[in-house]
Amino acid sequence: MPLVTTTEAGVPIQGPSATLLYDNWYPALRTDTLRKGKLAKAMLLGIPLVLGRRNDGRVFAMRDSCPHRGIPLSEGWFNGNRVTCRYHGWEFEPCSGRCELIPSLSSHDHLDATRIYATAFPCQERDGHAWVYIPGSGRKAETAERRSVPDLAKFGPRFRTAFLTADLPCNVDHGIIGLMDPAHGPFVHQAWWWRSRASIREKTKRFEPIPEGFRMSAHAPSANSAPYKLLGVYGQPVETTIDFTLPNRRTEIIRCGDKWFSSLTTVTPVTASTCRIDVIAAWNVFYYVPFLTPIAKFFGAKFVRQDQVTMIQQAEGLKHNPSLMLIDDADKPAKWYFALKQARLDAAATGAPPKHPMDGPVELHWRS
Ligand code: FES
Ligand SMILES: [Fe+2]
Repeated sequence: MPLVTTTEAGVPIQGPSATLLYDNWYPALRTDTLRKGKLAKAMLLGIPLVLGRRNDGRVFAMRDSCPHRGIPLSEGWFNGNRVTCRYHGWEFEPCSGRCELIPSLSSHDHLDATRIYATAFPCQERDGHAWVYIPGSGRKAETAERRSVPDLAKFGPRFRTAFLTADLPCNVDHGIIGLMDPAHGPFVHQAWWWRSRASIREKTKRFEPIPEGFRMSAHAPSANSAPYKLLGVYGQPVETTIDFTLPNRRTEIIRCGDKWFSSLTTVTPVTASTCRIDVIAAWNVFYYVPFLTPIAKFFGAKFVRQDQVTMIQQAEGLKHNPSLMLIDDADKPAKWYFALKQARLDAAATGAPPKHPMDGPVELHWRS
């Protein structure tokens, strides 16, 4: 997918930054890019990372900086077991970050190289992503065990999958509220196969609180959206559930008898002012239809691209730091997101459990 993060004049777009949520798992890159003996670079929350896969198959993520004199470790070598810095040849075990060898040490030195560590982050492979746990500054990565690595829900052994990604030149808050914003659909995603502006009508949706997030309760999907109409061919009731959970996850599960479609969308801060959207999806709907995966990818990519183009335009406006507003009810999910995020930040500061902004289930109304 072409990546546009500059204006027509070639000036990089950079809007205001967002407060970042540490102590979370974030997707860094697709693991099929981790080739044997090769190092790959990524950036999460403004932290440059170097990733790779050891000979035993384990994936790793280190800060892309040698603890000796700071040269990126990605400039060095990787033999499948150790990462070697290209400046003075220090060798590191990449999962722990432990220094195993300092070539310059002589018989007169008493320095124990193994007491030196490069920064290594907890890293796990799931659904084709390398997920990396980014602890808050000064905090130990051991907190990683308290949160589980996000999983794409699947409801049987046979399914197809697809993956999409797009860089967004806005901060993570704008990326996330764009993700949950029901009112942009008929304007941004106008297409014959999806919906048109003329199809706008009043909707009522029920929401309920879930831990660190909210759920759009199971409902029959909008009859005015074409992909859902398609599911109707199975002749059974179609039901969809959409969850948002901190820091950045939207999961959608559509079920129709024993047919299902499941997606996990994340908006990940690359830096404080830019982010990236990743969508992974699995389904057993139309399992036997040939070419469905490329077709689904084509339409999915078009959809994500429409959001991306809109956010590039929005970033252009946000550069000048305008004052903004959120309205009821269409922007209520955005308000909950900001309240949930603030509650998480307050809880981290005070040690008290986070206070959920919703007291119980509510109904929202909007036209889309
Ligand atoms: S900078 Fe890496 S070994 Fe010296
Ligand atoms: Fe969208």
